[in-house]
Amino acid sequence: MIMNYYSQITTQTWANGRHLVRCVKVIQETQDASTFCFMAEQPVLFFFKPGQFVTLELEIEGEQVMRSYTISSSPSVPYSFSITVKRMPHGKVSNWLHDNIKIGDELAVHGPVGNFNIMDHSADKVLFLSGGVGITPLMSMTRWLFDTNADVDVEFIHSARAPRDVIYHRELVHIFSRIPEFKLHVICENKNDIGEGWAGYRGYLTQPMLELMAPDYLEREIFCCGPAPYMEAVKRILRDKGFDMSRYHEESFGATPLDVKEDALELAGQAEADAEQLDYSEMLSVEFEGSGKSVRIQPGETVHAAASKLGLHIPKACGMGICGTCQVKLTSGEVEMDHNGGITDEDIAEGYILSCCSKPKEDIVVDF
Ligand SMILES: Cc1cc2nc3c(=O)[nH]c(=O)nc-3n(C[C@H](O)[C@H](O)[C@H](O)COP(=O)(O)OP(=O)(O)OC[C@H]3O[C@@H](n4cnc5c(N)ncnc54)[C@H](O)[C@@H]3O)c2cc1C
Ligand code: FES
Repeated sequence: MIMNYYSQITTQTWANGRHLVRCVKVIQETQDASTFCFMAEQPVLFFFKPGQFVTLELEIEGEQVMRSYTISSSPSVPYSFSITVKRMPHGKVSNWLHDNIKIGDELAVHGPVGNFNIMDHSADKVLFLSGGVGITPLMSMTRWLFDTNADVDVEFIHSARAPRDVIYHRELVHIFSRIPEFKLHVICENKNDIGEGWAGYRGYLTQPMLELMAPDYLEREIFCCGPAPYMEAVKRILRDKGFDMSRYHEESFGATPLDVKEDALELAGQAEADAEQLDYSEMLSVEFEGSGKSVRIQPGETVHAAASKLGLHIPKACGMGICGTCQVKLTSGEVEMDHNGGITDEDIAEGYILSCCSKPKEDIVVDF
């Protein structure tokens, strides 16, 4: 008997791991953001916690690259999932996806993972704060709460450069027009170059603005995602008002270009200063037994940085202990691992570490 697609669908559900998926739709959201929708070759129900992300494994110009993207769809529509990608100026992967991925293309994704999700921090009243493409996890949460008729009071404040840059704008307006407990506020940052009629808030989010839009914000569970300076500003506002920060949750998409530049300058300056006062007796040995290479590094350098010095390419995506991409096995020695949920306790117990956020405490040997 030939099983049809829908009878098979109930037999498989998505779990954290590596999966092959096929692009089934591409939607241009704004001038520089597009949504890519995926389905599995073998039917799968894509269950995940709204807010979680996947890591794409791609081959670009003969080189394997990994990047993490939040699942912007909701598990309430589980037969496919989507990501929404914004072009980063000169960004390698975001531009490659826009310019190359088309319907029918197959690629590998790892996940879903992530602690920044609405299921692990559920509440009756929530405040979603997003800036730019940081809207993606909050959109997934919104879609989920709407589709499941959840009894949750949602205030959603989104900041964009201009009205034309508001990702999902029409869908947001539609959803938020249907439920009185859902309230949407959009702020356009560019005070002058708005580009079209805009009667709403302008400028950057400030405490008085927040107070006007969501007067009870201190009583809410807060979820925030956006550029680093935006999230810093939000945290400053909340701390100044004595908000209980255990009820604040944020997702970082990584360093903004400026951060990268500042980090690079800082590192260069640091390297010069370090070179002057290098104490070779303090250096630690990192041996990669799979490739038979080893290097001596200074205390404070990561295992991933040690591998890079040797030209060894441990896959890396988030660089901050979230996605699990850079996991390797430690066969001897001890590290200090400052991760953000990208590894399970079971894996740690088996000796695995995340190389991007693990610093050797002594000489170590890694299985790579
Ligand atoms: C958990 C998580 C979820 C995410 N979700 C999303 C999402 O939903 N949507 C989304 O669009 N993105 C998301 N991201 C970000 C995404 O993973 C990529 O970081 C982003 O697409 C940029 O990748 P890229 O390869 O295009 O840019 P890269 O090539 O990595 O470069 C990033 C930026 O830094 C600049 N840069 C690179 N190196 C230097 C340097 N040495 N000096 C100065 N500048 C430099 C580049 O010009 C570019 O502007 C997420 C990230 C994480 C960790
Ligand atoms: S690269 Fe994501 S956890 Fe290390």
